[in-house]
Amino acid sequence: MGILKTLKRKFLKFNNSFSNNLKISNENIIITGANSGIGFNLVKILGKCENNILALVNYNDDEIISVKNENINIIKCNFSNPENINNYSDKIKNFKPSILINCAAIFGPENQNFNDIIIKEFNTIMNINVLAPLTLIQNSLKGKSLKQVVNISSLMGSMSNCNGDFYLYRSSKSLLNSITKNISFDIDQKINIFCLHPGDVKTKMNTGGLISPEIAAQKIINICSQNNLNYRGKFIDTNGNILSW
Ligand SMILES: NC(=O)c1ccc[n+]([C@@H]2O[C@H](COP(=O)([O-])OP(=O)(O)OC[C@H]3O[C@@H](n4cnc5c(N)ncnc54)[C@H](OP(=O)(O)O)[C@@H]3O)[C@@H](O)[C@H]2O)c1
Repeated sequence: MGILKTLKRKFLKFNNSFSNNLKISNENIIITGANSGIGFNLVKILGKCENNILALVNYNDDEIISVKNENINIIKCNFSNPENINNYSDKIKNFKPSILINCAAIFGPENQNFNDIIIKEFNTIMNINVLAPLTLIQNSLKGKSLKQVVNISSLMGSMSNCNGDFYLYRSSKSLLNSITKNISFDIDQKINIFCLHPGDVKTKMNTGGLISPEIAAQKIINICSQNNLNYRGKFIDTNGNILSW
């Protein structure tokens, strides 16, 4: 391992030390992307604290089932067609979610160069990363209990961080950011809606990530537990720093 990588790991280790593992309990929480990575770790941690969880997964639910927690309900729904979510409108409404964490996403094809953009794949990533979260927000609002919406975004979607390549993933997260800010004007001002960059996390999507998904999930929970309205309509990192759109 190179010296730079070692130093980066040490810096991240230091930067990721956090003294208080704050808790959220007795909430009805929807989490998407719930069978792997950050989403799965959110389900695991939040499920231990007397929360009711509605866990949305694509096809696989093996990891969640292994948690064996009767407060976790699973919905299998493929977001590549966001209208699939509307089949569960009543279930979502009756669940009365107080917190929605939109975590599911794909990175898209490995090659996302300017000259190799495939429109069909562009449409698919937009459906999963943007229109599915939007549809879920619409459905969750019908429960009339929503207090907080966390859209897991990425620094790769930040216009200030834009330096070429990765057209599909970058633009999907940019649009998620834009839609999040727009929604913040159109819904009850007491509902705390914001975008969050989880950091460089070791998951299926990012096998070289430097932070464990458990730590990333706990840091997201720490942020949610504060329900800080200063984050409303903003893009933040897991330390609560405001990021540039
Ligand atoms: N890891 C990082 O370093 C990093 C950095 C910045 C942002 N993020 C964001 O963090 C979030 C969580 O990602 P992760 O790192 O935890 O990766 P991950 O383990 O790959 O999680 C992504 C989840 O999305 C689900 N998903 C994908 N396609 C779907 C579909 N068509 N319908 C429903 N669900 C679908 C996946 O389920 P299946 O696998 O079963 O399809 C998977 O559980 C994402 O929004 C990602 O963009 C991650």
